[in-house]
Amino acid sequence: MGEKNIMLEHENNGWGLFRHFKYGIWWQFIKTLSRSTVVVVFSVALIVALFYTRMLDTHVLSRGSSTKPLLTSKIYDTRPFLGHEIPLDCHTHNLTKSCPTNYPTTKDNYDLPSSATCPEYFRWIHEDLRPWAHKGITKEMVDRAKKTANFKLVILNGKAYLETYEKSFQTRDTFTLWGILQLLRRYPGMVPDMELMFDCVDWPVVPRDHYIGPNAKDPPPLFRYCGNDVTMDLVFPDWSFWGWPEVNIKPWEILMRELKEGNSRTSWLNREPYGYWKGNPAVAQTRQDLMKCNVSDKQEWNARLYRQDWGKESKQGYKQSDLASQCTHRYKVYIEGSAWSVSEKYILACDSMTLIVKPHYYDFFTRGLNPLHHYWPIKENDKCKSIKFAVDWGNTHKEKAQNIGKAASNFIQEELKMDYVYDYMFHLLNSYGKLFTYTPTLSPEATELCVESMVCKAEGREKKFMMESLVKGPSNTKPCTMPPPYDPASLLAQIKGKNSSIQEVELWEKSHWDQNMKS
Ligand SMILES: *[C@@H]1O[C@H](CO)[C@@H](O)[C@H](O)[C@H]1NC(C)=O
Ligand SMILES: *[C@@H]1O[C@H](CO)[C@@H](O)[C@H](O)[C@H]1NC(C)=O
Ligand SMILES: *[C@@H]1O[C@H](CO)[C@@H](O)[C@H](O)[C@H]1NC(C)=O
Repeated sequence: MGEKNIMLEHENNGWGLFRHFKYGIWWQFIKTLSRSTVVVVFSVALIVALFYTRMLDTHVLSRGSSTKPLLTSKIYDTRPFLGHEIPLDCHTHNLTKSCPTNYPTTKDNYDLPSSATCPEYFRWIHEDLRPWAHKGITKEMVDRAKKTANFKLVILNGKAYLETYEKSFQTRDTFTLWGILQLLRRYPGMVPDMELMFDCVDWPVVPRDHYIGPNAKDPPPLFRYCGNDVTMDLVFPDWSFWGWPEVNIKPWEILMRELKEGNSRTSWLNREPYGYWKGNPAVAQTRQDLMKCNVSDKQEWNARLYRQDWGKESKQGYKQSDLASQCTHRYKVYIEGSAWSVSEKYILACDSMTLIVKPHYYDFFTRGLNPLHHYWPIKENDKCKSIKFAVDWGNTHKEKAQNIGKAASNFIQEELKMDYVYDYMFHLLNSYGKLFTYTPTLSPEATELCVESMVCKAEGREKKFMMESLVKGPSNTKPCTMPPPYDPASLLAQIKGKNSSIQEVELWEKSHWDQNMKS
């Protein structure tokens, strides 16, 4: 349903323009203009028309007409691609399910311009890999990570081989693997040989305290989407960056542009002066607790909270869950679900000041966020009072609140753009691969994985999102330059700095409510 609506919208945009040209009204108008104006107007019209024809053209292609091979979808991505496009051939590979043999897997042309230093949060890659920095990674360690893994991916000579142990929830594993294949297309021959165990379940499982001490074993290296302070799982970008078809969340590159546009619809001052949240409260006790702060006849905690009904949404074409239309309040609440939530990047992207209820998990980028700079911290055990205080503060310090909102959306638009998501994956896997003390071998169960073996047999929204997030070919620049590790003193200082900002807010809050009690 939702997909159909999206398609139609684009059709209307394209055809709408042509429809205008049919009517004589335009000709009447042109006749009244001077000759040179006519030339200019026609040139502009021609360029616009060409542009739209091109969009329509590729639009038809992306729908998968059976006579033409599927090429790349350019519906949204109108930037010219300057490099060599790697062809996608679903004709030859549709029936045989084999992978092309002529895939570029070597790094030619890598005398490329280097790009800037990576964002600060990349420094956590050093911290995450520290447990293996001295001894390296052995086969025995990797094998122990199999216990909870959904799949093992082997990368050998730039090609990927998959061994599935257990299918994940929804399409998490599919879109995670799709993402890694795009990384290999973007940087052919640059990702070293390795094998990685990936667990697609929410919660981290490698307890730090099991692996500390003189007689402790080395921890198993296990990849997943989030971590916390008491575990050692390796955090990797989640599937939603390439799309989440079950809930119609589009690939990040597209959604990010929509959110930017959504931001411009209502200026901060014209937004509702309350804290907004929409989601599924059933997944966690803390979310059910948050629901108690909702506005009613009897109370006003400055919170406007809504239940997301995915079943109803899917029947109604996801009209009420369009994320770019949710930048309507000056404040937006982020609260974890059963673990970290993929919604965080969408909430932070809104220009609204984000109110983050004390989180217990981190994903690969959230360790780059600073309280009072990118967000406002909300107490976990006294949510309603905390939200009310934050919103009142923002409405009386409008400029400061707007700056916090802007800092977060800039962070998302600039430091979390897809280029950096790939660079994070590259640096994490590159550093991880360099720690290998052995060359992985392929077991009989492993099968080669390539974009053809995934996308050619895919259908519906899954195929659409894959085509829209397909990397067209090798990057024109090298990955960003990895920043150096933190020295222990500055890392400690950073953590303490964040802690004291949060404590500062808690003190303001406390003295505010204490005064309120007195008066
Ligand atoms: C792939 O094969 C199926 C039948 O196995 C066919 O229906 C479909 O049109 C083919 N797709 C392409 C893109 O050739
Ligand atoms: C919160 O209150 C609003 C306004 O009364 C209401 O529309 C909404 O459904 C409530 N949310 C929940 C989760 O009950
Ligand atoms: C920061 O605060 C957390 C709890 O809020 C605490 O567990 C941690 O030890 C603190 N870290 C430092 C360096 O103060």
